[in-house]
Amino acid sequence: MTVAVALGWAIDLLAVLLLALGLKGLAKVRSARSANGLAALAMGLAVLGLLIQSPLTPVAWLWIAIGTAIGGLAGLFIAQRVPMTAMPETVALFNGCGGMASLLVALGVALFQGVSGLVAAISIVVSVFVGAITFSGSLVAMGKLQGWIGTPGWTQGQVRHGLNIALAVVALVAAIALPVDPAGPSLWLLVTASTLLGIGVTLPIGGADMPVVISLLNSYSGVAAAAAGFVVASPLLIVAGAMVGAAGLILTQVMCTAMNRSLLNVLFGGALGGGGGASVGGGGDEAGYSRITSCSAEECALALESAERVVFVPGYGLAVAQAQHTLRELAKLLEANGTEVSYAIHPVAGRMPGHMNVLLAEADVPYEQLVEMDSINPDFPRTDVVIVLGANDVVNPDAKTDSSSPLYGMPVLEVDRARQVFVVKRSLGAGYAGIRNGLFELPQTAMVFGDAKAVLQGLVGELRDLGVGKARAAA
Ligand code: TAP
Repeated sequence: MTVAVALGWAIDLLAVLLLALGLKGLAKVRSARSANGLAALAMGLAVLGLLIQSPLTPVAWLWIAIGTAIGGLAGLFIAQRVPMTAMPETVALFNGCGGMASLLVALGVALFQGVSGLVAAISIVVSVFVGAITFSGSLVAMGKLQGWIGTPGWTQGQVRHGLNIALAVVALVAAIALPVDPAGPSLWLLVTASTLLGIGVTLPIGGADMPVVISLLNSYSGVAAAAAGFVVASPLLIVAGAMVGAAGLILTQVMCTAMNRSLLNVLFGGALGGGGGASVGGGGDEAGYSRITSCSAEECALALESAERVVFVPGYGLAVAQAQHTLRELAKLLEANGTEVSYAIHPVAGRMPGHMNVLLAEADVPYEQLVEMDSINPDFPRTDVVIVLGANDVVNPDAKTDSSSPLYGMPVLEVDRARQVFVVKRSLGAGYAGIRNGLFELPQTAMVFGDAKAVLQGLVGELRDLGVGKARAAA
């Protein structure tokens, strides 16, 4: 073993350890930021370890430098520009890039080095198959989240199952034929059938099921990377890919449980709700409501002033309005008034896992005040005031009572059991799932129409006018 190879292995080992620590740290809001830095450092070391071990020509170094510069600048550009609300689309795009990278690695080896042995053949087949599905599926998912692609009606019928099964059979035949002629037509048939299969599987899924699809594609990108690790004999890539694959699978399971859906149902059941790309960002049918009560920020502030226990329910609209800091200001005023304040967190509120946790952490909301759905639901009957801020689907009581609702069976925050509910949103428009919400018509509910930030600023102003906060400070 040469010194360079030994050094490369040592760096690889360090990178694996740092990556594992990084993944572990991501599980907690407090350590997430530094854990992300740790994982990025691990990836940098991984590249360094590989370069040290490889005898490279000057031309190869040039290509690597060009690729690193282009990729690095693109990553920097995207990271600086993407708003928090567009994070799921970005994650979908990055998953797709991961799938494409694994696909290209396997293609390169098959075309230029050939396939020798069963393990190499299986690794290349898995890398191409999963990589291509991840690539095309992630691009479709991104297009749907962005609102560029809808859910075509024909994809909801049985015909799509026939098409997908046919594509899977073609991919299987091509995979079996691949070792005979690795650089021949079977390779391209496998690439084409897998790419189309990625589109065929993702296109019918929409509405509230999209978070599950994104985390599943994330898991696929890990599996593809692990397979690519076998292709190029990189233990680091195998370990890192396996970790991402397993973490993505666990997250997928958590998402399915949160929505009371089975994975098979998500993948083969069609679009849940009328949402998908079309209704991202709100809108929807405002007709059909007949018993709506609305009120001003002043009336809402009066209820808050006398409440002993207040629960805020953050949703996607709070992130759109970027009102987290104003919310924190309001909460501080109420706490100074002796009010018990907490925040109810639904696992799929917003547009990405942990979206609300991240949003509220930005405003330094104490982590202890964030209460998960299962823990806070029993407390709603003893809650004086609930303020729903830009949330819709996650507080829809029809999910519990109306078996014809597309959300039926999804656990929701049971705010309808609180004494008084104020729903802050701009209109009676639907949420992501594109359906009406029975909460808006309940006798204990009042709508406070407006942008979440403007309404919260109004509430802060009203409470200050009422002397809330000052009284305690003086006392
Ligand atoms: P939604 O059901 O999407 O409702 C958000 C509401 O925010 C809309 O009804 C909209 O009503 C309101 N809104 C938008 N901009 C606003 C603003 N500036 N000020 C005030 N309100 C504003 O959100 P949710 O309750 O958080 O539920 C999340 C949904 O997204 C679920 O269906 C979930 O399955 C899906 N989803 C989740 C994820 C993850 S992993 N979290 C990923 C993809 C999809 P107006 O237009 O009337 O203001």
